Amino acid sequence: MEGLAPGSGLPELEAAARPLVHAMQSYHLVTFGCQMNQHDSERMAEVLQSAGYHAANGLEDADLVLLNTCSVREKAEHKLRSEVGRLGLLKRRRPDLVIAVAGCVAQQEGERLLRRLPQIDLIVGPDNLGELPELLRQVDLGGPPAVRAVFDLDAPRFLAAAPSGRAAPTAYVTVMKGCDERCSFCIVPHTRGPERYRAAREVVAEIELLVRHGVREVTLLGQTVNSYADPGGSATRESGFAVLLGLIAERVPELRRLRYTSPHPRHLTPALIRAHAELAVLCRHVHLPVQSGSDRVLKRMIRRYTAADYAERVAALRSAVPGVTLSTDIIVGFPGETREDFEATLRLVDAIGYTGVFGFKYSQRPYTPALRLEDDVPEAEKSARLAELFRLSEAQRRAHLASLVGGVEAVLVEGLGQNGSFSGRTERNEIVHFSSVTDPIGDVVDVRIVRAFKNSLEGEPVDASLGAAGRPAASAAPLARGDGRRGLPLLRSP
Ligand code: 5AD
Repeated sequence: MEGLAPGSGLPELEAAARPLVHAMQSYHLVTFGCQMNQHDSERMAEVLQSAGYHAANGLEDADLVLLNTCSVREKAEHKLRSEVGRLGLLKRRRPDLVIAVAGCVAQQEGERLLRRLPQIDLIVGPDNLGELPELLRQVDLGGPPAVRAVFDLDAPRFLAAAPSGRAAPTAYVTVMKGCDERCSFCIVPHTRGPERYRAAREVVAEIELLVRHGVREVTLLGQTVNSYADPGGSATRESGFAVLLGLIAERVPELRRLRYTSPHPRHLTPALIRAHAELAVLCRHVHLPVQSGSDRVLKRMIRRYTAADYAERVAALRSAVPGVTLSTDIIVGFPGETREDFEATLRLVDAIGYTGVFGFKYSQRPYTPALRLEDDVPEAEKSARLAELFRLSEAQRRAHLASLVGGVEAVLVEGLGQNGSFSGRTERNEIVHFSSVTDPIGDVVDVRIVRAFKNSLEGEPVDASLGAAGRPAASAAPLARGDGRRGLPLLRSP
């Protein structure tokens, strides 16, 4: 308990010193949902560490368990309930265990969550993560459960990464938060609030810092990332995001790769397409959610484009950036979606040719305009449509991956793959595994592709000194634990 005023006996001093008790405490974070949540979890870990917490080895020996929740689909919300139930059992054995709920369900439900799940000690919204130490102090003092879920509308805060030591080769950087779109199916405007943008100079400063710590690839994050406009700048929404990309390319020339997620198709402006053509740092892959290929459904979804508008923008992007790969999100079984509507979606997927389709069965969400529409596509039909969509998209992905066999791809090595191999991604976002006798994590390695799997590729480094595939991977340099390196998750499996 170093740091306590020894024997002072003064109650106010003891109270002030109380957070230091946390120096003994450990946390365990469980993250559900999107990249924004992953990013928030990383920032939460930093906030906790700077308040004296340390990461527990696992859930069993954590003093504090934080669930960072997702509410985009009902299934995600069910997960929270079962997780809290499981933690409730643990808490019976260890009454001191603190259960905290963060993220979109925390924001959406606030105090109401406590009625359903009384095991919870703390509820904290996505805009209040910086307040965690103070909130935990309240809980620690034995007060009632703490609830804080308030949007920072007047002075938006963006928690920046605080890298120490060598960072992982890839990082997310938030440029905007919230969403002003009103897609009728989507709960995000409710859980993340209206759009707020981060100053471009702050974004650039964070990327500079990350690059100094070894980050090679940055993914810019925002719910509608390409509606960005610098709050201090003169650029409009038509060009604001493209201007930001140009600024990053200019100010941080050491950055190897730049990506962004998720854009809205209606903000895929000519300026953004030009940026793709002009900026070498910008990767030739865009995740561009289409949601449906039927104009009737798109209208009811309030997406504000037609299938033809979407295809036109994709064509413009493809002519500016030959070979660019595209992935997308699709909802099947939206209210009123007929077989004909669904076939229009299949036709669009077929025509565009995606390398990844993330498909979802429509699920009714509270506070969304689509609640007024009857959820009339039977569950079995939704499942059948989803399976049909996946058959098509898997065939597309297989054909695409197979077409790369025999060629050479530049792979940014991100971490250890299975069986001791290394894994990384190409600029066009294909996952590649290969063996190497040296440790190439963080390097961009030329890899000859020898085999295609369902979701990834296998190859051999072109540089013979790195060693060929099939060499015993155990001979690779051993990696220190906890140095921020991690294996690649497979492509989010649809
Ligand atoms: N039901 C099903 N899928 C949804 N998504 C968003 N809201 C819903 C919903 N109510 C999907 C969209 C979005 C992705 C992140 O989740 O496809 O792009």
